[in-house]
Amino acid sequence: MANFSFLRDKPEFALFAADCIYAEEALYQSPDSCIKLTRTALDAAVKWLYLHDRNIFKTRSESLFELLGDISFATVIGRRLLRKIHHCRKLGNQAIHNEKSFTQEDAVKCLSELFEFVQWLDQRYGKNYTPRTFDAEEIFAAPSLKTEICGIKMNSPVLAASGTFGFGEEFADFVDLEKLGGVMVKCITLAPRDGNSGVRIAETPSGMLNCIGLENPGVEKFLAEILPRIQNKFNVIVNISGASVEDYGELAKLLDVSGVAALELNISCPNVKDGGIIFGTNPKMAAAVTSAAKKNTGKPVIVKLSPNVTDITEIARAVESAGADCVSLINTLMGMEINVNTWKPTLGNITGGLSGGAIKPVAVRMVWQVAQAVKIPIIGMGGIRTAEDAVEFFLAGASAVAVGTANFANPNVTMKIIDDLENYLARQNLRSVSEIIGKVVF
Ligand SMILES: Cc1cc2nc3c(=O)[nH]c(=O)nc-3n(C[C@H](O)[C@H](O)[C@H](O)COP(=O)(O)O)c2cc1C
Repeated sequence: MANFSFLRDKPEFALFAADCIYAEEALYQSPDSCIKLTRTALDAAVKWLYLHDRNIFKTRSESLFELLGDISFATVIGRRLLRKIHHCRKLGNQAIHNEKSFTQEDAVKCLSELFEFVQWLDQRYGKNYTPRTFDAEEIFAAPSLKTEICGIKMNSPVLAASGTFGFGEEFADFVDLEKLGGVMVKCITLAPRDGNSGVRIAETPSGMLNCIGLENPGVEKFLAEILPRIQNKFNVIVNISGASVEDYGELAKLLDVSGVAALELNISCPNVKDGGIIFGTNPKMAAAVTSAAKKNTGKPVIVKLSPNVTDITEIARAVESAGADCVSLINTLMGMEINVNTWKPTLGNITGGLSGGAIKPVAVRMVWQVAQAVKIPIIGMGGIRTAEDAVEFFLAGASAVAVGTANFANPNVTMKIIDDLENYLARQNLRSVSEIIGKVVF
């Protein structure tokens, strides 16, 4: 019989221990009462663990069930126990306990004791069992968010989307930039641009319209002044845009320098007349721009796709064939707002790009479609505000995600998403995001 004496000085566990001892005694009387008591004991133990050691949330909770559930005796009560564990998990999530008198070591010991106890019952019933030992590191290991996409090592699969995060350094006070998978910096063009004039931003239900028009300091200033400041702080992914195929080639060449992790070709900006979306809506042009960049750089080339097309998979296939290492999607959806008092368009540019929560279902659909069409990795974006939103993109087939408009409402949102993503993985008994990529179930 297992020795539960170590639990006796822990008041919450006294009941559990007592139940176990009763269960032992009950076995001699009737197997039914033994099962009942054992169930109560296991329940109490699991509940207690979930409620009293916050680190347990970082365990693979399903393995905790497995741990109990794969014991043949426990299969009798397995289903009910599973339901209870789910309930306990919910309770545990709701509970906030800062006292940690029960250590991980105690928890592992307790699980071993539980196992021994059930093993002992099992023997009495004459069933077979395999002795097991429990390793604290294995049970309590936190999931890892580290990932690698087209050769770029990332501390997490959560990036900042271009145009919504400046050059990263502006967010240093709010965000631990190292935790991000990278920053897709504001779009860079060959010559500096002032962007569009007039009103450039309008709030919409669950989103915003913008027509910034690629305002940026130009590649020369970026290389001379900005890159040296940011290059060692995070993966710098430079978003580039040109007015011609040759522009993309030239920009790619100029940016083939250390400190740049990858290039993101913006072939999908709906807010400029010279270039941008023209390349992103025509498969041949999209392929030509991709080849031009690939020929002029050793860096991974990410091509950013436009949602303003009938069939996004056609463009995705074209850029993959032209050598793209990765695709990112979606850019903004072309939209328009009219002021009913002046009867004029709200935006100076007349139309603008719609982003934010409102576009998420379109983005998820497109990521899912592109994931069926190409083999290269996908960075998904469009309306991501929470870890759950990010998970939808992973399930649809994205290997990483980028957060855009949500940074304006909460500059710290990427950190919250990263923390919550880690908790989600732990709750789902997963060790990394790779286990859910493309795993949507039909
Ligand atoms: C104000 C603003 C500026 C943007 N600038 C760029 C840009 O320079 N280059 C680019 O590729 N995408 C740009 N985007 C698009 C975003 O990177 C992102 O693809 C899009 O907004 C969808 O994600 P979200 O809904 O999370 O914002 C911009 C978006 C906004 C809202």
